[in-house]
Amino acid sequence: MWREISRAFGEVARDYEAWYQGNPLFASELRALLALGPIPSPSLEIGVGTGVFAKALGFTHGLDPSLDMLLLARQKGLLCVCGVGERLPFKDEIFEACGMFFTLCFLSRPEEALEECYRVLKPEGKLFLGFVPRESPWGQYYEEKKRAGHKLYRFARFREGQEVLNLLKEKGFRLVKGSSTLFQPPGLKRPLREGPREGFFAEAGFWALVAIKD
Ligand SMILES: C[S@@+](CC[C@H](N)C(=O)[O-])C[C@H]1O[C@@H](n2cnc3c(N)ncnc32)[C@H](O)[C@@H]1O
Repeated sequence: MWREISRAFGEVARDYEAWYQGNPLFASELRALLALGPIPSPSLEIGVGTGVFAKALGFTHGLDPSLDMLLLARQKGLLCVCGVGERLPFKDEIFEACGMFFTLCFLSRPEEALEECYRVLKPEGKLFLGFVPRESPWGQYYEEKKRAGHKLYRFARFREGQEVLNLLKEKGFRLVKGSSTLFQPPGLKRPLREGPREGFFAEAGFWALVAIKD
């Protein structure tokens, strides 16, 4: 499955990258992630894509199955590795932080990816997550795109916010802080740049969190 998904992302790599340029939605998501505190090094983003979040947040390493996406991430100075989140090609306990932004929903086996994060993180290492909760208006918007056969979203499986929080706990992570943004409805002609709100809200289209390896 990951081959098909990474091929689909690879085909749109340049457009994907272009979407971020000067986009107030990206700026809002970034602010929600920055509100969680600094990313300690060394750090790995799984599903790094073209590296836009990794670069802006100061991640050192990026992993992705798509070489086309990684090529753009490498140009940003990130140390890039081709691979999948369910089987990380790294030794145990070497990273201070792991991150996954908009990637959890594209993993065939997210439980395994979280187990792998736990394995490669040092004791008390931090896991940063950013995702679209299914119950939010944005989650419903993307669900609709998925139903219509969108070339990327057709592969996504969006999860309810609480489902993700439960999964983290099950895999040995302790939630430290949450931050939400995208209270504006999806599809605005002129999207707004928003400040984050601490905590989780069902109406927010982006949940960001940091959890610690317990
Ligand atoms: C929606 S993009 C997110 C990219 C980046 N994090 C961002 O927010 O711009 C999802 C990424 O996950 C990658 N991906 C797909 N399956 C994966 C897997 N099994 N393990 C790791 N990454 C995967 C895709 O190639 C794609 O680059």
